Amino acid sequence: MANIPATPAAAVATGHRASPWPRSSPSLPRRTAMLPSTGAAAGPRASWSWRGAAAVARAATGSDKAESSLFSEVVRRLVVAEFAQILFVEVSERLDTFQASGARNQNYMAMYSSIFGGITKDPSAMVIPIDDHMVHRGHGVFDTAAIMDGHLYELEQHLDRFLRSALMAKIPLPFDRSTIRSILIQTVSASNCTQGSLRYWLSVGPGDFQLSSSGCANPALYAVVIESPSLQVPAGCKVVTSSIPIKSPQFAVMKSVNYMPNALTKVEGEENGAFTGIWLDDEGFVAEGSNMNVGFVTAGKELLMPRFDKILSGCTAKRVLTLAEQLVADGRLSGIISRNVSVQEGKAAGEMMLIGSGILVKPVVQWDDQIIGSGQEGPIALALYDLILEDMRSGPPSVRIPIPY
Ligand SMILES: Cc1ncc(COP(=O)(O)O)c(C=O)c1O
Repeated sequence: MANIPATPAAAVATGHRASPWPRSSPSLPRRTAMLPSTGAAAGPRASWSWRGAAAVARAATGSDKAESSLFSEVVRRLVVAEFAQILFVEVSERLDTFQASGARNQNYMAMYSSIFGGITKDPSAMVIPIDDHMVHRGHGVFDTAAIMDGHLYELEQHLDRFLRSALMAKIPLPFDRSTIRSILIQTVSASNCTQGSLRYWLSVGPGDFQLSSSGCANPALYAVVIESPSLQVPAGCKVVTSSIPIKSPQFAVMKSVNYMPNALTKVEGEENGAFTGIWLDDEGFVAEGSNMNVGFVTAGKELLMPRFDKILSGCTAKRVLTLAEQLVADGRLSGIISRNVSVQEGKAAGEMMLIGSGILVKPVVQWDDQIIGSGQEGPIALALYDLILEDMRSGPPSVRIPIPY
């Protein structure tokens, strides 16, 4: 495997426990909790139980009243002990317990971090420093790329946008573009994932809890590979006009980690029985969805999309605009156009669709109270879905990078 540059030595931690740092040391004493009346050690957390503590208290007193106050004291001390300072080895054990609890509903197959300068396959180690300004100030950008049949789809296009976003966010690059690209490919390779997605972040990095990034010595790169099943044929969905204010163009065109408005737009949509919310821009024209672009088919059979000057320029939407030329060639579309779309025109369209790398192309059959077109999944939306899926499976090398597993 090629070297992965970072401050510490590069490493791929493939085995459980093979991490850049030793996670346990025989010389480290285990934390123990001392019981007040017996002096006996409660020992490792796994062997302690509330019932056991009560029995100890009962044996030590014999009277109900004394038993109850001693029990309270036992509980108080043990609870304090539970949240007392713990060693890193125990933090890692507890992270393992959290991981094993099933609290996560996706499979994280590998993570790269420039902080530890390597790739880990241990989900418990997939963490970032709390003083990273991306965590406490939102000073970070991100992007994604789908993994399909062992290939990364549109990595170059997503990488272009990622680096543009970093520039707009004044985040210095920790590595040059080709090194970042190589790290991303190596992370997918180490994961052995053939179907899923790659997500990656650039941050001004850790350093302090100030607002300015001047104290952040090293910008950070993180990437994670998430396994996901292959996509289903898209079902028609409902959307609602979002009441959440849209981001101003300066922030909407960059893919920063400030996704609170996007998350609330999605939640608001779901609360109203819809798939997501749709934003209008400052002039009342159709903008975009929570994390997807929007397209229409006009009565004249044109594919119509809002321009990208006030919204995120979607890699999928741009690819759809190119692939749609095939539908113009075979007469199913009369043309392809990007311009302002009023709400009235959008609601009167023959078809409406959502477009993004998470969903590809999803037909919309209802917007607020208005049924779109026939109320069924539109044939152009379904044809575009097929075209993009086909492109992911067998498109040209400009959109498909094979992963060297
Ligand atoms: C706000 C927003 N618009 C549009 C998109 C669609 O972009 P892409 O097709 O590159 O996934 C996304 C995707 O994350 C998004 O977050």
